[in-house]
Amino acid sequence: MSLNIEYEGSLYPSLIHSEESLRFAREEFQVRDDDTFIVTYPKSGTTWMQEILPLIFSEGDLTPIHTMQNWQRVPWLEQKSGKALLENRPSPRLITTHLFYHLMPKSFYTSKAKVVYVIRNPKDALVSSFHYHKMASFLENPGTFDEFIHKFLEGKAVMFGSWFDHIKSWWAVKGQDNILFLTYEEMLQDMRGVLVKLGEFLGKQLSGDAIETIAKQSKFDNMKQNNMSNYSFVPEDVMNQKESNFLRKGIAGDWKYHFTAAQTEYFNSVYAEKMKGLNFPFYED
Ligand code: A3P
Repeated sequence: MSLNIEYEGSLYPSLIHSEESLRFAREEFQVRDDDTFIVTYPKSGTTWMQEILPLIFSEGDLTPIHTMQNWQRVPWLEQKSGKALLENRPSPRLITTHLFYHLMPKSFYTSKAKVVYVIRNPKDALVSSFHYHKMASFLENPGTFDEFIHKFLEGKAVMFGSWFDHIKSWWAVKGQDNILFLTYEEMLQDMRGVLVKLGEFLGKQLSGDAIETIAKQSKFDNMKQNNMSNYSFVPEDVMNQKESNFLRKGIAGDWKYHFTAAQTEYFNSVYAEKMKGLNFPFYED
């Protein structure tokens, strides 16, 4: 049996997605004006943002991240559990998705719902994804690292398809005032600055104390200790955290320990070609 299902030209792991769940997300889900979406290409900081946004909405009260698993507090729209967790949830809802812009719910485009889009250096997203494909039984075997670089660059046999297509689909609407782009790297460098930006964007007045609490709680080491955020509840035959932790390293630049000089050169040449003319200011080398 294939590990993936295809829906409107994209690949989704079939353990957690079905045609029905994808059709629900696209055709039936009613977006509300006060919904907030976390949107990412996989392995770009989704889980991190699932820690941060509930804490912004609770103004630093830790209850949501201590009492609900991350996929319950900010459910995945397109997954099999999406409908039950989201449809009747009171506002304001926090929602996670990896969907491309053009595959978002039809009701999204006319709504005032907000989107926080997190971008990560694609070489680091690739490395993170390589390890994830090894530890998650619902993903294709990645092959060697060299083989995986080619798969990633072609957007084949990697969940949700091409990093380039994902970025391009969302970057095309960057001028809209309901979309905030953040980078994983700025979250690492200046979380307090990011929290101020997020507070303004989401219309939440955060006190200095709340900012300190959220910055501290969302640090990698604290999230790793949080059983509601580290996926420790998932059985080993689904996610083998002895092979690689879900919260693996949490750094920028891990790609330097994985790529050879030739692989870096090859990646950079494909990157330059695919991103040509996009006016995308990140990750040029
Ligand atoms: P690594 O595999 O490089 O460690 P996603 O949630 O989109 O699947 O992304 C997972 C990646 O984000 C993993 O990267 C994970 O360790 C990292 N991550 C999660 N929480 C983090 C945090 N608080 N600080 C830094 N990185 C974090």
